[in-house]
Amino acid sequence: MGVKRHLLSTADLLLDDALLVLDTADRMARVADAPVRKLPTLRGRTVVNLFFEDSTRTRTSFEVAAKRLSADVINFSARGSSVSKGESLKDTAQTLEAMGADAVVCRHSASGAPHRLASWVRGSVVNAGDGTHEHPTQALLDAFTIRRRLGRVDGLAVTIVGDVLHSRVARSNIWLLTTLGAQVTVVAPPTLLPLGIDGWPVGVSYDLDAVLPKSDVVMMLRVQRERMSAAFFPSEREYSRRYGLDADRAALMPEHALVMHPGPMVRGMEIASSVADSPRSTVVDQVANGVSVRMAVLYLLLGGGTDRETT
Ligand code: CP
Repeated sequence: MGVKRHLLSTADLLLDDALLVLDTADRMARVADAPVRKLPTLRGRTVVNLFFEDSTRTRTSFEVAAKRLSADVINFSARGSSVSKGESLKDTAQTLEAMGADAVVCRHSASGAPHRLASWVRGSVVNAGDGTHEHPTQALLDAFTIRRRLGRVDGLAVTIVGDVLHSRVARSNIWLLTTLGAQVTVVAPPTLLPLGIDGWPVGVSYDLDAVLPKSDVVMMLRVQRERMSAAFFPSEREYSRRYGLDADRAALMPEHALVMHPGPMVRGMEIASSVADSPRSTVVDQVANGVSVRMAVLYLLLGGGTDRETT
């Protein structure tokens, strides 16, 4: 059993592969608690962070993850690079590969960009978020966080709230959590649900208050203004009134239930500060767990798999 050469999507991640990543991340998490937080596993390997969109958590946690595995890291940001002179994704990637990249971690505003990249480079490609398509390591770290806090994912009721239409986090989580045996419900204004949602393996509701008491996990999404070309709701105040998670709403959740947010959060609109900073919030855990999960992904793609398949 081994993960594939690339990690581009959770839609095609088999249950055994997903569990392998989560179990490996459990082992990687122990490194964070050790006196020397470093393993020699990827010594001599090079990981390139190729980011064409802004990022705080994903880029830095891939960098920390690679360094904890002793890999060399090259951070490439489109801003300030020759992309501004018109250099293409293919030429940029091949330039970085010529410098010895064994893995390319790619974030891009175009859905499908990491898939194209995978056909151009010899190394492994990890999708760090492509347009509105997928963000597989976010979903893996979310599943890892749920499993650590609640002991399992199988059989849990997970509610995903907000801008599902533009959310790669929602898509990756829906595919992965379903594979892991969770029942997923999405709650959003009708304008922020994708066409064809009826064919997805999720329940759909427009009534957050009705769904909260039945939820083991409530995952809030960021409203992605940068991907909106029109008005999708009347006002921020109206959105917050119907779909924001404030303290009164959070009180409707079962005592054990978690509140998650992938970040960056828009406090006061999607989620009240009192909820985001409450003991049931996993926001900070998600960031810490992101390092362990990304260590696991890099380890399995570059160092740990003995029978790597190709996509
Ligand atoms: N959750 C997430 O992808 O955050 P960044 O955009 O900061 O990487």
